[in-house]
Amino acid sequence: MNPVKSATQATAEEASRMGKQTLTIIDNRTGKQYEIPIAHDAIRAMDLRQIKLNEHDFGMVSYDPAFTNTASCISRITYIDGDAGILRYRGYPIEELAEKSNYLETAYLILRGELPTKQQLAEWTYHITHHTFIHESIKKFLDGFHYDAHPMGMMISTIAALSTFYPDAKDIFNQESRLKQTWRLIGKMPTLAGFAYRHSLGMPYAYPDNELSYAGNFLNMLFKTTELKYRPNPTLERALDTLFILHADHEQNCSANAMRNVGSSHVDPYSATAAATAALYGPLHGGANEEVLRMLLEIGSVQRVPEYIKRVKAGEFKLMGFGHRVYKNYDPRARIVKRIADEVFEVMGRNPLIDIALECERIALQDDYFVKRRLYPNVDFYTGLIYQSMGFPVTMFPVLFAIPRTSGWIAQWEEMLLDPEQKIARPRQVYLGEEQRPYVPIEQR
Ligand code: CMC
Repeated sequence: MNPVKSATQATAEEASRMGKQTLTIIDNRTGKQYEIPIAHDAIRAMDLRQIKLNEHDFGMVSYDPAFTNTASCISRITYIDGDAGILRYRGYPIEELAEKSNYLETAYLILRGELPTKQQLAEWTYHITHHTFIHESIKKFLDGFHYDAHPMGMMISTIAALSTFYPDAKDIFNQESRLKQTWRLIGKMPTLAGFAYRHSLGMPYAYPDNELSYAGNFLNMLFKTTELKYRPNPTLERALDTLFILHADHEQNCSANAMRNVGSSHVDPYSATAAATAALYGPLHGGANEEVLRMLLEIGSVQRVPEYIKRVKAGEFKLMGFGHRVYKNYDPRARIVKRIADEVFEVMGRNPLIDIALECERIALQDDYFVKRRLYPNVDFYTGLIYQSMGFPVTMFPVLFAIPRTSGWIAQWEEMLLDPEQKIARPRQVYLGEEQRPYVPIEQR
């Protein structure tokens, strides 16, 4: 992994090329002037601390709820230009990876920084494939869940439970140990997901088939019934694998931030991944794909779309699958997802909800409310339709996001651990509560 350069350590060459790289701040309360270094278009929040009213003052902090304009790390994994609708993993455009790569190769790229050679890919695939089995005891606590338990709840619990099976995972600064947990996590996520799904149906668990591809084996663990050997439909297998590529990483989103935040306490990667999975479960994040499908079902027909959009604009609810913190243009993943939808519909038949989705998009893209706020379809808008056509129940949709995102989470976690500038994540607050006051005995309140 490359050594990490500090945010304010622009090289001398960069500094001279770009002119004076500082920001001058005048504090109008005191008339004092401060010069703060700029690097990579960023200032260090700690440089604001010197701005004080007097020597007893704590110093200035920056206030940024929801981190809308705060870089929490330096990263070399994923690049997004939200205005231009660009997404790249380690420099490679998502469109090229979706067309030419496969999920395990992309996971290697995200984690290692480079595309693997043939031999590296073979070894990587071998190791992940040979870590797909889970301890039999995990079946016992899966059995404790209600038949209608949400699979994300089962995933979060069982991922956290993996930490109890692999105490060696606590050795987080040991590269070999991290690699082993990486194989395990990427390998076991589909198995946990498959088992959670089969539990909800009351079907016997289907064990991994190491002869199948990553996506093919996942389909096997979900849908295998009495056949001796499950053979995935190649179009569906490829479609799922491509969707996995699209979901592999997305820089500092809510769940990646959770992974880094929780991991910064130096807990084991299973516990941190369980936290990231919990973050992903929310309807504003990875749970949105589930909400989109419920929304399309509720709309029910193309004719009812205008009325629904009217209610969205009146602030009754959001148009799920629309909008993004970073993309202020068409989400490049959504474009690819639309193409995959056509391929899947050719095999499985056209999902009738697609017409409602297309009408939502058509109306929204012309409507002032959405245009002004730069709200475009995001990755979740069309994925649900594909998943539904492939036979997944809606509750499995966020799980289909969590499986591939695991490689991104681990990459973000490892980058955080190896960054000498990172410490335990611990934000400041602006306290506006009560001043000190004496305790009042209960009889006097
Ligand atoms: N429908 C209607 N209005 C919206 C929507 C939407 N989907 N998204 C944002 N807005 C409005 C919002 O009400 C606000 O309006 P106003 O300025 O009048 O108050 C404005 O647009 C800006 O929105 P915001 O909430 O400040 O934006 P944000 O960056 O905090 O939120 C978001 C981003 C993704 C949480 C939000 O767009 C949203 O809730 N979308 C629906 C849920 C969704 O599809 N989530 C999946 C995200 S992509 C997959 C992933 O990475 O998880």
